[in-house]
Amino acid sequence: MSEAESTRRRILVTSALPYANGPIHIGHLVEYIQTDVWVRFQRMRGAEIHFVCADDAHGTPVMLSAEREGVTPEELIERIGAEHQADFAAFDISFDNYHTTHSPENRECSERIYRALREGGHVVERTIPRLYDPEREMFLPDRYVRGECPRCGAPDQLGDSCEVCGATYETDELRNPVSVVSGGRPELRDSEQVFVRLADFDEVLRTWVGETFHPPGEAERRRVQPEIANKLDEWLSAGLEDWDISRNAPYFGFEIPDRPGKFFYVWLDAPIGYMASFLNLCGRVRAEGGELRFEDFWAVDSEAEVYHFIGKDIAYFHTLFWPACLHGGGFRKPSAVFCHGFLTVNGEKMSKRRGTFVQARTYADHLDSEYLRYYFACKLGDGIEDMDLNLDDFVARVNSDLVGKVVNIASRCARLLQGISEGRLADRLHDPALFERFAGARDTIAGFYETREYGRAMREVMALADLANRYIDEHKPWLAAREPAGKAEAHAVCSTGIELFRLLAGFLKPVVPATVAKAEAFLGVPPLAWSELATPLCAAGEHRLNRFEPLLTRVDPGRVDAMVEASRER
Ligand code: MSP
Ligand code: ZN
Repeated sequence: MSEAESTRRRILVTSALPYANGPIHIGHLVEYIQTDVWVRFQRMRGAEIHFVCADDAHGTPVMLSAEREGVTPEELIERIGAEHQADFAAFDISFDNYHTTHSPENRECSERIYRALREGGHVVERTIPRLYDPEREMFLPDRYVRGECPRCGAPDQLGDSCEVCGATYETDELRNPVSVVSGGRPELRDSEQVFVRLADFDEVLRTWVGETFHPPGEAERRRVQPEIANKLDEWLSAGLEDWDISRNAPYFGFEIPDRPGKFFYVWLDAPIGYMASFLNLCGRVRAEGGELRFEDFWAVDSEAEVYHFIGKDIAYFHTLFWPACLHGGGFRKPSAVFCHGFLTVNGEKMSKRRGTFVQARTYADHLDSEYLRYYFACKLGDGIEDMDLNLDDFVARVNSDLVGKVVNIASRCARLLQGISEGRLADRLHDPALFERFAGARDTIAGFYETREYGRAMREVMALADLANRYIDEHKPWLAAREPAGKAEAHAVCSTGIELFRLLAGFLKPVVPATVAKAEAFLGVPPLAWSELATPLCAAGEHRLNRFEPLLTRVDPGRVDAMVEASRER
């Protein structure tokens, strides 16, 4: 077995499941692009990797939205699911499977985990007071009650916290509470609820977060980032309370098997949706004659890697509830959970009034998705800090780096080579040391992708692009090409320029796949794989380029303004 085979990784990757009651916006895209870049990188490296996602279809908001629109929840989630998938496709998010949590697979997995939790003695029932809307005849989620802050008296505050003074409190402490659903006055009503005893998993969670793990062929890793580990430590030290996993009818979700009229809380079956989407994928693969086994990835002794990419707002669910449910349900826990920060635009929270709450659809109607993928990659690191999309910087960065530096190498060399040799490359490198320098950056750049330090990867690539441009500028092939005596040198320099461009294209492929697909067509090469990047085209004998087509055009700032205008809510 070769080394490459013995370290072949089997990886399952997820992005958080978007709620099925609203459109995808550019804030969401931070996450889907971050995940997709990682997945595409692993594919280029030859790993077996499965990237699954789904719509998060259950819960009160979906139920009420459907009602407002006069459709069934099933109709609503069907439509939104299709819109989400179209949006993701517009940004080249390369899911291997996109499912929904309202699926037979998810019911099966949720019931399986619930039964195991119950058999393990981790489920308890208790009667507690809950908010009830007597007009609508339904129990209310905390966010559907507003009222006066019990501390400062500010009107129209949320059920759990005050936006004016920052106080946090229990919903029943709100003064003069109002149901958002009916406008009536909610009351407290006793209700029997089903809880998972999270404290049973205290030790398991402490061990999980404290231990490192070892992906095949890679350095040892932590399960969560240091900031998240600290948070977890705080939560664990404060003591884990029982978690209410039940909601009363009417509710859009799965009825709890032994509890008629009670439904699983959406946050119970949402992460299980990761498994369910994978289970659905296994079925699809098998139906097509392939082989992919659910247990290989989810059994307790699985050696496959499982990673969840999420935003920091849902860390609690993914680092406490989810590993606890998996453990209690008889499954393996995630290899790691990767958190990212939130997107701001022009230094501020995304705002409908300012036109910076940009939907994925609106962006795609105005601008090329490759620009945003590149810009986000430049800004992304392995931390949980928020990141800013500054629209002026966005235009400047994309134009100067992607178009001005990288695409420029190909276009200037291609044009000259067409005249010199009809696109045939020289049979040897003119500056082998420079080529070696580029090829030698492979491991550094791969390391940055692996650890999600895309910004550092992009800086490395652009520094190389600068070197390539300087090399061409120094040799001035456009002058040499005019003299019969200089033609050979011009041919050699431009050919080497193309060889260097090929390496840059390979390095950038996880980030800007559509542009690199065009580059592959122009270069006349099969899809670039990481392990082949160090071998120049001239090593395989005479190579001829295809006709050069523009790979990527400059960002037009006017289109950015038009996108902001189209997003503005008056
Ligand atoms: N449905 C839940 C996730 C369930 S996962 C089992 C949810 N959905 S969401 O639509 O609100 O968010 C989906 C993902 O997008 C989350 O990881 C969230 O953190 C991320 N983001 C939503 N808005 C964001 C920004 N403005 N910036 C960066 N990420 C953002 O949460
Ligand atoms: Zn207050």
